Amino acid sequence: MGPLRKVVVHRPGGHGQLRLEPQALAHPGPGEVRVEVEACGVNYADCVVRMGLYASAKQYVGWPITPGFEFAGRVAEVGAGVEDLAPGAAVLGVTRFGGYASQVVVPRHQVFSRPARFDAVQAAGFPTVFLTAYFALFELAHPRPGARVLVHSAAGGVGGALLQLLRIAGCFSVGVVGASHKVQSARALGADVVIDKSHEPLWPAAERAAPGGYDVVLDANGVSTLAQSYRHLAKPGKLVVYGFHSMLPREGGRPRWARLAADWLRTPRFNPLALTNDNASVLAFNLSYLFERRDVLEEGMARLLAWVEQGRLVAPPVTRYPLAQVADAHRALESGRTVGKLVLTLD
Ligand SMILES: NC(=O)c1ccc[n+]([C@@H]2O[C@H](COP(=O)([O-])OP(=O)(O)OC[C@H]3O[C@@H](n4cnc5c(N)ncnc54)[C@H](OP(=O)(O)O)[C@@H]3O)[C@@H](O)[C@H]2O)c1
Repeated sequence: MGPLRKVVVHRPGGHGQLRLEPQALAHPGPGEVRVEVEACGVNYADCVVRMGLYASAKQYVGWPITPGFEFAGRVAEVGAGVEDLAPGAAVLGVTRFGGYASQVVVPRHQVFSRPARFDAVQAAGFPTVFLTAYFALFELAHPRPGARVLVHSAAGGVGGALLQLLRIAGCFSVGVVGASHKVQSARALGADVVIDKSHEPLWPAAERAAPGGYDVVLDANGVSTLAQSYRHLAKPGKLVVYGFHSMLPREGGRPRWARLAADWLRTPRFNPLALTNDNASVLAFNLSYLFERRDVLEEGMARLLAWVEQGRLVAPPVTRYPLAQVADAHRALESGRTVGKLVLTLD
């Protein structure tokens, strides 16, 4: 193992704020596990953390902060009371920030055995997007088999996970992608219909694919599609809101404050009286507030990892970057051009 390193953001801003710094050796407290990290996943939320716009990062950590929600590696040390995990075990896990590092120390319940089908890089890109997709579908939306479900950004990390889970749930899935090079990936992950909105107007195509409307729409675009996503619900229908990336710039790495404010004002507000008469539900969540929820994490990961073992879920397509090139990974993810997951490697 080389010298311990971590990525640190001292103050909010562009890609230059991602600094690689030495990390001190940490030891696990009671009930905790220290993992030597081989790879860590990059999520769009990490870019939002770096920009200084992620509420739970400010609430739980403040500045400086090491971003990163997920990792894969080997158990290096266990704290008192941890008896079911031994040093050397191959694991993956989630952490509320701090993942972009050579080591993480987390509570035992946030660490899971790595499935034999995954290498460390595939494992590192698995938990966040799949837990997000799992929570959206199986804790919130509960689509029935045959339900018509529209997934925005369907070739991205969470979008691709949603498509795979919808295939398991027996739903009819319509995946929306923003560029032609993403169509094949969305199809391969299980979309019954793919709409390439760079080539055809989104909503007429969405109406043709499900003339009666959608039982569920999953939207992390925010302002650019939220009003129409709601309008295209069946009755009853459920809109699951879990992100707002269309408010943020695709290049430059810094929020454009005037546009952000305008988009915030334009973001639809949902009125309970109208919701009742429209027979519509709007559901929303943020996974980073759920890390203490052992019931949610353990049940979700147990089901997800069982589907992996059965070959019913596959690892998303992964693009890897060395940890030192974290800024390139953020730049790529913010461009909106990536397919699947980006993962940082510690070798
Ligand atoms: N609530 C939660 O707990 C939770 C957890 C994880 C992720 N999320 C959210 O889920 C979304 C997807 O996250 P991810 O990590 O899996 O990323 P991703 O989907 O792999 O990448 C983001 C995708 O969003 C689309 N996009 C639309 N407008 C964009 C813009 N202005 N800038 C950049 N991308 C834009 C692009 O796809 P198309 O052009 O093909 O649409 C892009 O590829 C993000 O909004 C993230 O914050 C929420």
